[in-house]
Formats: sequence, structure tokens, C-alpha cells
Amino acid sequence: MEIKNIFVVGAGFMGSGIAQTAIQSGYNVTIHDQSEGALERAKTNIGKNMDRLVSKGRMTEEQKAAALALLTTSSSIHTAANADLVIEAIFEDLNAKRAIFEELDKICPKDTIFASNTSSISLTSLAAATSRAEQVVGMHFFSPVPVMRLLEVVHGLRTSQEAIDAAMEVGKKMGKTMILAKDKPGFIVNRMLLPMLNEAVEILDEDIGTVADTDEGMKMGCNHPMGPLELADMVGLDILLEVMETFYNDLGDTKYRPAHLLRKMVAAGYLGQKSGMGFYQYENRKKVGVN
Ligand code: 3HC
Repeated sequence: MEIKNIFVVGAGFMGSGIAQTAIQSGYNVTIHDQSEGALERAKTNIGKNMDRLVSKGRMTEEQKAAALALLTTSSSIHTAANADLVIEAIFEDLNAKRAIFEELDKICPKDTIFASNTSSISLTSLAAATSRAEQVVGMHFFSPVPVMRLLEVVHGLRTSQEAIDAAMEVGKKMGKTMILAKDKPGFIVNRMLLPMLNEAVEILDEDIGTVADTDEGMKMGCNHPMGPLELADMVGLDILLEVMETFYNDLGDTKYRPAHLLRKMVAAGYLGQKSGMGFYQYENRKKVGVN
């Protein structure tokens, strides 16, 4: 089946990044969110990102207008009725994701493929909330989605080869490089990356190094484009905590225990870029100082 219409659930940083990448690749996209405010913000951010591409000569005004004409927003989940592919990109909560898939299962045609951008939750248990487990696949994007080249395609226990092929085809049209992972917490990339971010928080908590030195260490010593604490702020400290909790509970190894300081930061409302405060301070997601 040729994918033409994509329905993105969740208008946050990941959802809007996925939507932007999809319209730039010629797909008709509807972003759905219950919050009209979140939909407005997503539209504004996509427009601003494209303005930046135009000002850098990477996109023409005509290409921008053509891409934006493919974008629709909707606060009604029922607009998923014409979707060929659904990409769910809400917060990391198994029950919330299952509830959305259960609802979409009633709304979408039988051949619609359901993808989740989950970074840690079992795809097999999400698939079990639907009557189409063979058509449920993981499409795990990396942030910022329009920039990062990877798409991790995830194979649930019942995922069909057709669903894998469809996800790979969409990724290819979006210009991504694909890797295939089996369904186990964190898949391939986050299983390595997030414990490293958590360890950076431990290093800070144990007073081994400052925020600046911890980040500088990985940037200068290992050529990482961002330090781990800065990256944790970008990913979202709440998301990092949820993922580490999932690893700790599902894999049962204390090496995945979330850092105490991470729990305290989240409890204090310091969620990183999106809340304006994490290990650094932000204005409009731009770093302006150290916390
Ligand atoms: N949206 C769209 N484009 C963006 C962007 C955003 N939010 N942020 C930066 N960009 C673009 C810029 O416009 C610029 O484009 P250009 O090359 O056409 O000029 C390019 O990215 C580079 O940006 P900058 O020059 O401003 O800054 P940097 O060179 O420092 O790059 C970065 C920024 C791309 C974010 C780089 O620091 C980086 O690669 N960081 C690591 C990101 C990473 O590790 N992501 C994975 C996170 S883990 C994850 O997402 C999984 C999840 O499940 C937790």
C-alpha cells in the first residue's frame, strides 16, 4: 500500500519535528493534539524552522509554501479516518499510548499502519491494544527530528514484514538512514545513550565535576556534538526519568537506577529546555546560562 496521508498524534517537540520532516518529504500530514495551544505552537515552530532553511538557502519560498500546504492540524482524533499511517508521538506512558491506539483502531481503515515513536515502551504491548497487531511497528525518531539522520524501526513480536517495509519506505522518503531493532527496552540507541546521560547526572550528584566540565569532557574528549547534560535537557528530564524507570523495572538491573538528582530535578519542575530550566537555563529553548 502506498502511504500518502500521515496522522501524527502529539504536537510536542517530537511530533512537530516528525510532521515537519513528513511534509518536507511530500506527505499530507495532520497533526492531532487535544490542546489547541500545542497545535498552534507546533505550526509556529514548523514555520520558523522552515524560515531558517529558506534564509540559509536550503529551501525556496515556493518549496516552503508547498510543504506548509500539506499540513493540517486537528484537535479531533476522528480526522484519522483517512490516514494510511498513524505515528503516535505522545509522552512515554503505556496506558495513555494504549488508549490512543485502542481508539484509533476503531476510527482508522483496516489497512492503516500504526507506528509509535516510543523510545522505551514495549511495542508488543501497544500492539495488543489493537485488533491489528501485525500492522503495528516502531518508528523511533531522534531529536531534533528534521536534523538527525537516523530512524530506528522496531519489530514487535507480531509485526509483519509488510509493516516493517512500509516504515522503512517512509523513512527512506524522509531521507533517513534506518536500523532495525527488536522490541526490548530502549531498543538499540537509547539502551546505550540514556544510561550515559543518567551517569552524567550521577557524576554531578557525586560532585565529581561541574555541569560545564561534565559536558566539556564528552564534547572535547569524545567529539560528541553536545554534552550529556545539555542533551538530557533537550530530550527532557521527565522523559529521561521515565525511560530509566522503565529500564530499571523491566530489565531489573540496578545499573539502570535513575540518579537521585534526576528525580529531584523532575520533582522541582526542572524539565530542561521545554520548562526553561534544567541543568542550564533557557529562553525559547535557547541556552542562556547554567542553573
Ligand atoms: N529543529 C530543526 N532544525 C534544527 C533544530 C531544531 N530544533 N536545532 C538545530 N537545527 C538545525 C540548525 O538549523 C542547523 O541547520 P544547518 O546545518 O542547515 O545550518 C543545524 O541543525 C545545526 O544547528 P546549529 O548550528 O544551531 O547547532 P549545532 O551545530 O550545535 O547542532 C544539533 C545542533 C544538531 C542539535 C547538534 O548539537 C547535535 O547533533 N546534538 C546531538 C543531538 C542528539 O544526540 N540527538 C539524539 C537525542 S536522543 C533522542 O532523540 C531519542 C529519544 O528517544 C530520547
